[in-house]
Amino acid sequence: MSLFIKNIKKLVGVRREVPVSPLKGKEMESLPCLDNAWLLTEGDRIKDFGAMDNTAPETLASLESAADEVIDAAGRMVFPSYCDSHTHLVYAGSREMEFMDKLRGLSYQEIARRGGGILNSVELLHNTSEDELLRQTLERAGEIISLGTGAVEIKSGYGLTVEDEIKMLRVARRVGEETPLKVSTTFLGAHAVPARYKGDRSGYVTEIVRDMIPAVAAEGLADYVDIFVEEGFFTVEDACRIFEAAAGYGMRPKVHANQMSFSGGVQVGVRYGAASVDHLEFTGPEEFKALQDSGTIATLLPGATFFLDMDYPNAKQMLEYDLPLAIASNYNPGSCPSGDMKFMMALAMIKMRLTPETVLNAATLNGAFAMDAGADYGSITVGKKASFFITKRIPSYEFIPYSFTSQLIGDVVLNGKIYRQ
Ligand code: NIG
Repeated sequence: MSLFIKNIKKLVGVRREVPVSPLKGKEMESLPCLDNAWLLTEGDRIKDFGAMDNTAPETLASLESAADEVIDAAGRMVFPSYCDSHTHLVYAGSREMEFMDKLRGLSYQEIARRGGGILNSVELLHNTSEDELLRQTLERAGEIISLGTGAVEIKSGYGLTVEDEIKMLRVARRVGEETPLKVSTTFLGAHAVPARYKGDRSGYVTEIVRDMIPAVAAEGLADYVDIFVEEGFFTVEDACRIFEAAAGYGMRPKVHANQMSFSGGVQVGVRYGAASVDHLEFTGPEEFKALQDSGTIATLLPGATFFLDMDYPNAKQMLEYDLPLAIASNYNPGSCPSGDMKFMMALAMIKMRLTPETVLNAATLNGAFAMDAGADYGSITVGKKASFFITKRIPSYEFIPYSFTSQLIGDVVLNGKIYRQ
């Protein structure tokens, strides 16, 4: 199957060479584009692209006639698919009643202390069959695809038993098999201490290390291991135990870090070579220095900061420290029931004063690197996966985050195929 797209008003995020590392600091300001362009895919890859004006009319004609499908994208732009590197897409039911509690003044931590929050989702998930869980998750997967996402990381963490964590990760893997999304999976057994270990957090970490990690690894269900390092959840010492155990099975760390306090999550992530440390509301120069040249990506989750009505991280200062930033949705039932990457970019611009170029790079190329998928996703590059979206008619790329509730996507192409729901 080949697809030829002509008269593209702007091809956005064009990188001539396959990028080998995420963009950092000032580099994030640069978003190379090609005006009045064409793009050719072959199989699931980008085969070639160029400027309409610099290509001989007979070459254009022969590319068009040889292609299986042709799209005239006059007035429309092409963007690399969003790479959403932090989600909890697999969950059962919803938690809108806690949302009401929050509006009445209860904090996220207070709800958790009363046995709600994550533990609420744990109970719902336990009482839901794997097939039903898959059905609910596929609905959300279809939703994010239509919003422009092409690659997604999905965590466990609402199981908290060997059986239910495995159920979640199997569902996550099946999303990767049954949709054109590229799916990375993360084992997050250390998301909350389950009720059966109340008062014995360390005993639960022992179960994670002794039983859960080997069981998850035996089925090859997780690419990464994650932990919520936070007061009332898990400690830096717990993270060390879990990362050391997971390293033996090739699971690279990620960390829920510094969301509600200066928890040490950033530093322990860096120490163990984490792919990313995510959240980062409670960070400053000490954390930024730890991240400099570390190979760990600082991932912002502005949707959760918004939904929990917190103060935003100092992302501009992170850029001054020359850090690589990614933006992800954190789609989950408790702190961010949305997987809309356009909205996340708009929040990052409005609340953290980032530029459109920076947020687009953070939501595409750097998101891909936060899933170790930068060689295949996140930019328009010959040889990369043909995963991109074609907008409706729009005046500029700034219009995307500016027009933050409008549906601006015309066609979605994933792995070289036009996606039809
Ligand atoms: O990333 N902070 C921890 N985990 C999720 C929230 C999960 C939930 O509340 O269900 C997050 O915000």
